[in-house]
Formats: sequence, structure tokens, C-alpha cells
Amino acid sequence: MGKILGIAIQNYGSLKDIKMGKLFREQDSKELGNMVAIIGPSGNGKSTIADAFGFISDCLYGDVESACDAKNRGGYDQLVSQNHTGPIHFEIYYKESNNSRPITYELTISKDKNDRPYVKEERLRQRAQGNKYGRPRSFLYLNEGKGYAYEGTDGGQEDDGHSEGQQIPIELSETRTLGIATLGVMKQYSRIEKFLAFLKSWYLCYFTPDAARQLQTAAPSPHLNRTGSNLNNVAQYMIRESPHEFKKILSEIQSKIPNIKKIEPFKLENGQMVLKFYQTGFEKPFFSPRMSDGTLKLFAYYLLLHERNPRQLIFVEEPENGLYHKYLANLAIEMKKNVGTGYTKQLFVTTHSPFFVNALAPDQVWVLEKNSDGFSELRQASTYDHVNDLVAEGVNMGDLWYSEYFG
Ligand SMILES: Nc1ncnc2c1ncn2[C@@H]1O[C@H](COP(=O)(O)OP(=O)(O)OP(=O)(O)O)[C@@H](O)[C@H]1O
Ligand SMILES: [Mg+2]
Repeated sequence: MGKILGIAIQNYGSLKDIKMGKLFREQDSKELGNMVAIIGPSGNGKSTIADAFGFISDCLYGDVESACDAKNRGGYDQLVSQNHTGPIHFEIYYKESNNSRPITYELTISKDKNDRPYVKEERLRQRAQGNKYGRPRSFLYLNEGKGYAYEGTDGGQEDDGHSEGQQIPIELSETRTLGIATLGVMKQYSRIEKFLAFLKSWYLCYFTPDAARQLQTAAPSPHLNRTGSNLNNVAQYMIRESPHEFKKILSEIQSKIPNIKKIEPFKLENGQMVLKFYQTGFEKPFFSPRMSDGTLKLFAYYLLLHERNPRQLIFVEEPENGLYHKYLANLAIEMKKNVGTGYTKQLFVTTHSPFFVNALAPDQVWVLEKNSDGFSELRQASTYDHVNDLVAEGVNMGDLWYSEYFG
């Protein structure tokens, strides 16, 4: 469990220096909520923010060099902000639950003398137990692969060198892999382990209806993959875990999808699972491969919201693609309702759709603009006083955006 209260990104493509929410050095800023929508014209950096999350995630599973090369990123030189010499830097301010102490993770990726990207610096900090204020102590610090870590749930070193708890010297043999990925698999570093599990649970969603139409071999799968191609396998998993609950979920989803009376799972003789969609006006059902792009997409989004053991951070790019505009406000409302206000799920969405944005509040919307030097600037819509006033009078956010009151 957990959520990001704030994030800062530097020198990642057009994101030379952006911040969202509350950070270790900006304690007066407001924490991010569970629903974060990022809007702005084409080329302003929405996908780059989504990709920054994807990049961090990729760094966990491989090394930073392959993450720089993956997914059309084109390598470190293409990725790092042009006209700038600073390294790529991320800072994540995170909290596991309402009463836990926030954790700050800082990661700096630079180029070594052979021009290859490596992890220059990594740090995890947390306040001492029982301290409401005070400088957080580093419980992991690595510079060029060398540094220290603290076991257990407390202990660490302050910036002035004062240390509490057992400091373990660390030297990594490989500076291209993240220290948290190496140490986070060891039980004694329980705080690193938990933080790593949180990062690993991120999900970046790129549903494509064609992928969702494929019938994969029977293999129950707890979570939807990036493209949604294992939709039927997730259904199979959910039935196996709790047929009763799955039926309830299906009937709830079906009530949200226009013209669908009923959705039923159906097991083929070879063990594969398909979903039967009963459509208004027809007695016989249609199987999932025959459903329209929009229906499949809506179904996949709603299924994603109902996953068992949900991923803690979900990033959806442009959910409006392929969907009828009138479905979007409902989808946004459902997403908002589903993520709630607790620590189980946080949803980041990029969107071009005023219809989607209409369902949101000013503090849920972040606007990307490009400044004169070509880099992205991010601003929370609630920082425009006139927007707050108009929304308080009952005007919808998306309508204000469309009418160019902001953004
Ligand atoms: N290394 C870099 N340094 C600075 N800017 C970069 C770098 N690499 C790419 N860019 C710019 O960053 C922007 C990336 O835009 P991005 O794809 O994030 O936009 P978007 O808001 O998702 O747009 P759309 O609405 O079209 O999807 C582009 O303008 C691109 O020229
Ligand atoms: Mg984009």
C-alpha cells in the first residue's frame, strides 16, 4: 500500500524541472491526491511524464542503460534535456499509509567516463520514529555505487553526520543497476523492500482493443498487462479466486457499459476463457473478439478498477481514445470514486478531453505549458483563483478549459 505525495523530475526530455505535490524540501505544498489528471496541448510533455514513471519502473527490472535504450527512448543522450548539462534526476515523496512516516527517494542518473549511463547517486530518507518534525535521516545512501544502508524500521544518518542504528557499508559491483533493486530483495532492509514493492506495483496502461481481442492460452493472470491482451486470462483468474465476487463485478461493469445487458464468462473446451456480451436487441451473445473497440476499452478500464490486489499506482494515457465523448465523464467519475482517498490506489491520467476533465476538481487537474526556452512547465489548476471561483459557482472544469479560461 502507499501513494506518491509528490514527485520532482529534472532533465528528463522536456521536463527540465517540474514538481507536483509535496516534497521533502517543500513541506508547505499540498500533497497529491489519488486522482491526478495532466492536460495540455500536444508536445507539452504529458507522455513524457507518463514515460518518466515507465522509465523508473524499467530501471527496476533491468539496468539504467537498457532503460534509456528501451521504448523508443533512444538512449541517454536523446533522453536527457537538450541544451543542459545536468544529470537526470527524480525525487519521489511517498507514504505507505496515513500514519506512517513519509519516505523520500532521490535518484540521479548520469554518464560515466565511457559515455554510458549509470546510477550516480541514490538516497532514501525518513524521519526518526516518534518524531513529527526534524530532518529525515538517510537509511540508504549510495554515491557511485558506494555508501551505506540501515537495517530494520528505524535508524539512519543525518546530513550533519549524526547516525543512529547500525550502519552497514555497501559497495555495489554494478553501478548500472539501482541499489534499491539489489538491497530491496533482502529481508533485513525492510524499508527498502517495501518501497521497492511499491514501485514494482506501478502499472502503465496502454490498452489496444486489438490486443484485447486476442484469445490467449488458458492461464489465469492476476493483473492486466500493458495492452490488455490478457483480458480473458484476468477474467479466468477472478473466477477462480471468487466466482461470486466476479459475477458481482461483471454486473456492476455491465451497468456502466451502454447497451450491454449482461456479461458472462465462458470457458472453451481447450480451457481458454472468453467473455460473452449480451447486447440489447439480440438474444444470442457476442464473444469478446466481436465487441466494438470502445466497448472493449471501457470494459478493460472498469475491470482494471476492480482488480483484486490492485496495483498501487496506475498511469493511463489518453483514456478518451476510441471512446464516445459522452462516456467520458462517467468514466472519470467512476475512476475518482474507485481510487477514493485512502492509500490503496492512485491514478494518473493524461487527457485531451474536456468531457473527461468536466468530472474533475481544480486540484485534480495539472496543466502543462511550454515556456519560452521550450521546456515544460506544470501548474495545478487550483492555483488559478478565477478557476476556483467559477467552479465554486457550478461551472465545469472541462468547459472552462475548452473556453480557454486556463491551460
Ligand atoms: N531531450 C529532450 N530535451 C528537450 N525536449 C525534448 C527532448 N526530447 C523530446 N523533447 C520534446 O518533448 C516533447 C514531448 O512531448 P510529449 O510527447 O510528452 O507531448 P504530449 O503532451 O504527450 O503530446 P500529445 O498530446 O501529442 O501526446 C516534444 O515537444 C519533444 O520535442
Ligand atoms: Mg502524448
